[in-house]
Amino acid sequence: MKILVTGKNGQLGRSIQKLISNYDHHEFTLTGREELDLSSSESISKYFDTHSHFDVIINCAAYTAVDRAEDEIDLANRINHLAVKKLAEFANLQNTKLIHISTDYVFDGKSESLYLENDTPNPVNVYGKTKLLGEETVLEIMSNNAIVIRTSWVFSEFGNNFVKTMLRLGNEKNEINVVSDQIGSPTYASDLAKAILHIIFSDKFKKKSFPTEIFHYSNLGETSWSDFAKEIFKLANLNCNVSPISTDQYPTPAIRPQNTTLSKEKIKNHFSLKIPLWQKSLKECLKEIT
Ligand SMILES: NC(=O)c1ccc[n+]([C@@H]2O[C@H](COP(=O)([O-])OP(=O)(O)OC[C@H]3O[C@@H](n4cnc5c(N)ncnc54)[C@H](OP(=O)(O)O)[C@@H]3O)[C@@H](O)[C@H]2O)c1
Repeated sequence: MKILVTGKNGQLGRSIQKLISNYDHHEFTLTGREELDLSSSESISKYFDTHSHFDVIINCAAYTAVDRAEDEIDLANRINHLAVKKLAEFANLQNTKLIHISTDYVFDGKSESLYLENDTPNPVNVYGKTKLLGEETVLEIMSNNAIVIRTSWVFSEFGNNFVKTMLRLGNEKNEINVVSDQIGSPTYASDLAKAILHIIFSDKFKKKSFPTEIFHYSNLGETSWSDFAKEIFKLANLNCNVSPISTDQYPTPAIRPQNTTLSKEKIKNHFSLKIPLWQKSLKECLKEIT
C-alpha cells in the first residue's frame, strides 16, 4: 500500500514513523509543513498534483495550540477544517481511504457518563469548534472509506506534552498546583499509532468500500490532571507534591471541557483491538524518555 502520513514532526506522526520499519513492504510518505503546508489551499493542490495515487492518507497534522487558537481563529480553521476538506476531496477523487484524527474537545464535557461516538458534540473553545468542522467535512464529502478517530490527552516521548512538562516541573519544584476537576483518558501516542496501523491493515479497512464512521480511541481508564501528575511523579521517583486546584483557580484563554472521558468499546469490538490501561502505557513512555 502507498500511505501518506501528514504531521510527521508531531507526537502521533513521529510515533507512526517509529513503527514503519515493521512494514517495509509498504510505501510510507511522511510530510511536514515544509512538504505539505496545510494552512495553504494552493500548497495542498500543488502537492496532490505532483504526488498522487495514495491508497491511504493518515492525517496526523493539526493546529493543536488550544489557547492560542482563541486568537488565531482563521489559522486554526484553515488547518483543522479547510485543509481537511481539501484532503477529503482529493481522497474521494483519487479513490484514497482517509484516517482523520479528531479530539475529545468536540464535546462540552458536561456528560456524567462516557462519551459515545454518536453523542452530540458541543465544543466550548475555538480549537474544538474547528476540529468539529473538520470531522463534519469528512463525513459530508466521504460517505465511504474514511475513519475519524477522536482521541484525548495525548502524551509521548516526542514534542511538548503534559508528561514532559510534569517531568521538568517535578525536577525543578517541591510542590505544584494541578487542576483536579477536569477528567479524561490519557492516550500514549505510540498506542494510537499501533492502533491506526492495525486498522489500516485489517480486512475491514482493506475492503473495496466501507461506510465512513467515527471511533473513539484513548488508553483505558480515566483520571484527572492532578492524579495524572501524581502517577508521573510516582513512576519517575520524583519527590514533588501535587496540590489539587479547581479550573477556576487556573484560568486559561480557552475554556476546557470538564469530563471528556471517551468510551472505547466501539473501536475495540469493531477492530478487535487490545487497548492498554493508561498507567501501563505511561510506564512504557517514561522508559522511552529516560
Ligand atoms: N495533543 C493532544 O493532547 C491531543 C488531544 C486530542 C486530540 N489530538 C489530535 O491528535 C492529532 C495528533 O496530535 P499531536 O498530539 O500529534 O499534535 P502535535 O504534536 O501538535 O503535532 C501536530 C503536527 O501538525 C503539524 N502542523 C501544524 N500546522 C501545520 C501546517 N500548516 N501544515 C502542516 N503541518 C502542520 C505540526 O507541525 P510542526 O511540527 O511544524 O509545528 C505538528 O508536527 C491531532 O489531530 C490533534 O488534534 C491531540
